[in-house]
Amino acid sequence: MAKYEPKIAPPTGRLGVLLPGLGAVATTFIAGVEAVRRGAGLPIGSLTQMGTIRLGKRTDSRMPLINEFVPLAELDDLVFGAWDPIPDDALKSAQTCGVLKDSDLREVGDFLSEIKPMSAVFSSDYVKKLDGPNVKKGSKKELAEQLRDDIRRFKDENKCDRLVMVWCASTEVFLRPGPVHESIEAFEKGLENDDPGIAPSMIYAYAAIMEGVPFANGAPNLTADIPALYTLAKEVQVPIGGKDFKTGQTLMKTILAPGFKARMLGLSGWFSTNILGNRDGEVLDDPESFKTKEESKLGVLEYILQPDLYPELYGNLFHKVRINYYPPRGDNKEGWDNIDVVGWLGYPMQIKIDFLCRDSILAAPIVLDLALFFDLAQRAGMSGVQEWLSFYFKSPMTAPELYPEHDIFIQLTKLKNTLRWLMGEAPITHLGTEYYDDYYRDA
Ligand SMILES: NC(=O)c1ccc[n+]([C@@H]2O[C@H](COP(=O)([O-])OP(=O)(O)OC[C@H]3O[C@@H](n4cnc5c(N)ncnc54)[C@H](O)[C@@H]3O)[C@@H](O)[C@H]2O)c1
Repeated sequence: MAKYEPKIAPPTGRLGVLLPGLGAVATTFIAGVEAVRRGAGLPIGSLTQMGTIRLGKRTDSRMPLINEFVPLAELDDLVFGAWDPIPDDALKSAQTCGVLKDSDLREVGDFLSEIKPMSAVFSSDYVKKLDGPNVKKGSKKELAEQLRDDIRRFKDENKCDRLVMVWCASTEVFLRPGPVHESIEAFEKGLENDDPGIAPSMIYAYAAIMEGVPFANGAPNLTADIPALYTLAKEVQVPIGGKDFKTGQTLMKTILAPGFKARMLGLSGWFSTNILGNRDGEVLDDPESFKTKEESKLGVLEYILQPDLYPELYGNLFHKVRINYYPPRGDNKEGWDNIDVVGWLGYPMQIKIDFLCRDSILAAPIVLDLALFFDLAQRAGMSGVQEWLSFYFKSPMTAPELYPEHDIFIQLTKLKNTLRWLMGEAPITHLGTEYYDDYYRDA
């Protein structure tokens, strides 16, 4: 097979960012991009906007900004579209969600009020604690066709050159992969037969891929993580990825756990509990949606700590995650962690973390980076699962034969090396022997 040589089409024209779900994360993202465009805020937390990348040797002093190094769409070229069963425009939704202050919303209110959600593919069979009138009707196959029409219409009306889709809608009930997800044929038959194994999020992912639109999943739902959609994405040559934005407590976990393991410190317990009072918290109060989230949150430590390789250190780790819906807290979540650490000769220690975080403030820059990087992947001809973007996900998708990498530092190295590779620069291994040539002698 010929070696793949990256060639990147330029990001000309407008990039449409399509968001299933116009709730807290989506409106905080859109309002933030508009605020940055108007010079009213900084895109803090966004690697594409604020990050730099080292090229060449440490002595070369080449450290461009990432968005000056790789050809990414400009913020000014982004336009936004969304679907939601709740018909509120983006301003009204943002006011209800209560993430951003009224004074900040006023700055961009005119822009937000123009964004009205298209009718959603939604069923409360898959998100129990929610309902809304702005919903499409028809068989699952017809719903997929309606979404495809929406996508084409949006592209046309907004004069977009390209589109990306980022799932920012509620977490659906836990679904296991089954026969209907096994192949494109089985999946398309399932659409015709209204198979209950096909959740609304899968219909969005299918419609996006069929329209050649990259799809990233910000929730832990199975969605595109099924053989039928990997195969379709490969055939149609569309990038896909997920799952579940890595924010809050899991972000902290993937920062800390690699550190404990690096120093060979043991762990006997890690108890994580959250209180949050937004709509996401209410949806996650349903045991079936919580189960989807729990699976996504629990996997992280297992993969980072590798208890099979280090049974004395991590073989008996007790890991528990709770989410408690507590309305007074709103979007300002509180994530508590109690970590039982084991040191030299088995002596126990404890670390307590109380992260008073703002979930959507942490998620918004991720949506931006994913939109820009998935568009880059598409223009570079990279299709199928984009594992190099695992950095952004709690439960990263990989090629079927691989286990996911959760260590945030390895994920960042992988992301930056992928950018270097795309632009024909040497990867950075951190070996660094070239700086010490004079100190080595033949043995
Ligand atoms: N905020 C974070 O830090 C964070 C982190 C990781 C993952 N997530 C996930 O991102 C998603 C969005 O979070 P949020 O805080 O914005 O939640 P939210 O409840 O404020 O917004 C979700 C929106 O999706 C809509 N929706 C539900 N089903 C839909 C469908 N089928 N089609 C279109 N719209 C639909 C809801 O009506 C709601 O307006 C959730 O799944 C959440 O678990 C959020």
